[in-house]
Amino acid sequence: MHLTDAEFSLISEMVFELSGVVLDKSKSYLIEGRLAPVAKEAGCENFNELYFKVRHQGDRALKEKVVDAITTHETLFFRDTSPFEALEHKVIPELLDKKSAKNDRRLRIWSAACSTGQEPYSVAMILDRLIGNSRDWNVSILGSDISSMAITRASLGIYSDHEMERGMKPEMRRAYFERVKEGWRVKDHIRAMVSFRKLNLLEPFKSLGTFDIVLCRNVAIYFNKEDRRDLFFRIKEVLTQDGYLFAGSSEMLTDLGPEFRPQYHCRTMVYQPNLPVDTLRHSHK
Ligand SMILES: C[S@@+](CC[C@H](N)C(=O)[O-])C[C@H]1O[C@@H](n2cnc3c(N)ncnc32)[C@H](O)[C@@H]1O
Repeated sequence: MHLTDAEFSLISEMVFELSGVVLDKSKSYLIEGRLAPVAKEAGCENFNELYFKVRHQGDRALKEKVVDAITTHETLFFRDTSPFEALEHKVIPELLDKKSAKNDRRLRIWSAACSTGQEPYSVAMILDRLIGNSRDWNVSILGSDISSMAITRASLGIYSDHEMERGMKPEMRRAYFERVKEGWRVKDHIRAMVSFRKLNLLEPFKSLGTFDIVLCRNVAIYFNKEDRRDLFFRIKEVLTQDGYLFAGSSEMLTDLGPEFRPQYHCRTMVYQPNLPVDTLRHSHK
């Protein structure tokens, strides 16, 4: 199915409005490759018809298929290694100590744009190594993504041999997965730590409450500058004062001004929120 220039404009604008993902002309091949099968399955003869069905006929199921198909779901267990080392050796132990001192036994983590779940499950496995089955801690990990297909797969928690080979060490596989017909399933005690929901990061998310750790990795790279800035500022609002933000390894937040304090741990950059000057003055009194 060929994409005309006029169709490129319509479809890229629709994708932007649905997901914030920016597709410039160099990404025409993505529209052709990923959306042509969706269009054909929906009985459309061309991309114009696809646009019309989603935008003017309000076909919600088709809209979800478009979002599922056009978003990039590339992920793997313990992606980039060093962020997970920083979590295990610095960030989580430090948070547990600080919280213990305040008798606060709750730890909330958010994997925003979790794709098919490898990221939040990797965090859950690290937490299991650190606090095991301690009943002292109330741990919850939220995985969210705009893609219904990704969230359905993440909730299933079943991974193919190929997906397991990408990042999962054999000893971790033995400890945290069981063999099932379809592949490897995350064991129940790890699944119990993680919940999933569909969420578009461009929409308000303050109602989720606050988090001690937010991982927002490899998603803002698809947004424009304003949406990216706005997203990280809104994430700051849901981070606890001692909380940590992890961005993707190629995503520097240093252009966001003084909102975040970058720190380097275990060869990875992590960010803590800077308090407004007034609050700082107050806390030194
Ligand atoms: C490349 S994956 C990153 C997965 C994981 N964070 C990682 O780093 O391995 C990007 C994910 O962002 C999701 N995404 C794209 N636009 C989004 C939006 N507006 N709101 C929430 N998720 C979005 C996609 O569906 C996709 O699963």
